[in-house]
Amino acid sequence: MANKSVGVIGAGTMGRGIAQVFAQSGYEVTMHDAVPVAIESAMGQIEKLLKRAVEKEKISADDAAATQKRIHTVPKLSDIGRHPLIIEAVIENPDIKIELLKAAQSMVTDDGILASNTSSISITQLAAATDRPDRFIGMHFFNPVPVMKLVEVVRGLQTSDDTVARTITLAKDVGKTPVECNDHPGFISNRVLMPMINEAIFAYQEGVAEAEAIDDIMKLGMNHPMGPLALADLIGLDVCLFILEVLHRDLGEDRYRPCPLLRKMVQANRLGRKTKHGFYKYD
Ligand code: 3HC
Repeated sequence: MANKSVGVIGAGTMGRGIAQVFAQSGYEVTMHDAVPVAIESAMGQIEKLLKRAVEKEKISADDAAATQKRIHTVPKLSDIGRHPLIIEAVIENPDIKIELLKAAQSMVTDDGILASNTSSISITQLAAATDRPDRFIGMHFFNPVPVMKLVEVVRGLQTSDDTVARTITLAKDVGKTPVECNDHPGFISNRVLMPMINEAIFAYQEGVAEAEAIDDIMKLGMNHPMGPLALADLIGLDVCLFILEVLHRDLGEDRYRPCPLLRKMVQANRLGRKTKHGFYKYD
């Protein structure tokens, strides 16, 4: 792609991470969020992470400053500009995503790619709401985005081979490792991950062990970097519940039913790190 620019829709946990990764790889990034506080918090966090990277001598102070300069923010989607790649990373709500994607499709350059970072909504369904389903694809990043190597490249029913090939090149260009899969509920990542998290919550609900013990068992016995309950807190319990509901509904199997305790915690707004309280408390 000659023009190294990207549009990112959404300045939440994933959107800000995606913006940082592209900017660190030399792309001019325009990030849109309709909520000014979200943009402010995103830019603050990116600055903090870059500062930490400078302190650890992973990047130079000049690189950090240049990265920040490459990130532009716009409160109106219509001001995002035209880009060869636009990535949508907003809340997991199909109606909201479709509305934004319909508006964003005219902001992609003629041969450009429109991508969604959705964790579980059908790429085929989102693509069908746009005029160019062949140029639509899933680019599923992982939290924390600057650290996690994987981009799950999700091919919708109508995604073209060319779009898949160019997305793989783009992911590599920002230092990620793309792995391709077909559009199916939960793709591969969340189809495998979420039942494990759900089962850990069932075990906790049934009093099999304390939260710390469940996590320690999985960390020390399975070499996972963090236990399933701590990971659920990192991902967000509302996101976990939403994904499990998609798996349960679309795959139609009882084994995906969300644990009642997970539902209750979401109702209580105990969503994990973002509300400072999930299975653990956070300062
Ligand atoms: N943002 C950016 N960088 C971060 C970070 C964050 N939120 N949290 C940690 N880091 C960086 C640190 O700065 C450090 O960088 P360095 O190596 O350059 O010094 C590095 O990550 C390691 O951090 P720490 O030493 O503080 O802590 P850990 O070694 O325990 O690693 C972790 C933290 C990377 C979060 C690790 O515990 C881990 O890999 N956990 C699993 C995360 C995971 O599974 N993510 C996928 C979630 S599923 C998903 O996102 C899909 C969605 O659809 C649900």
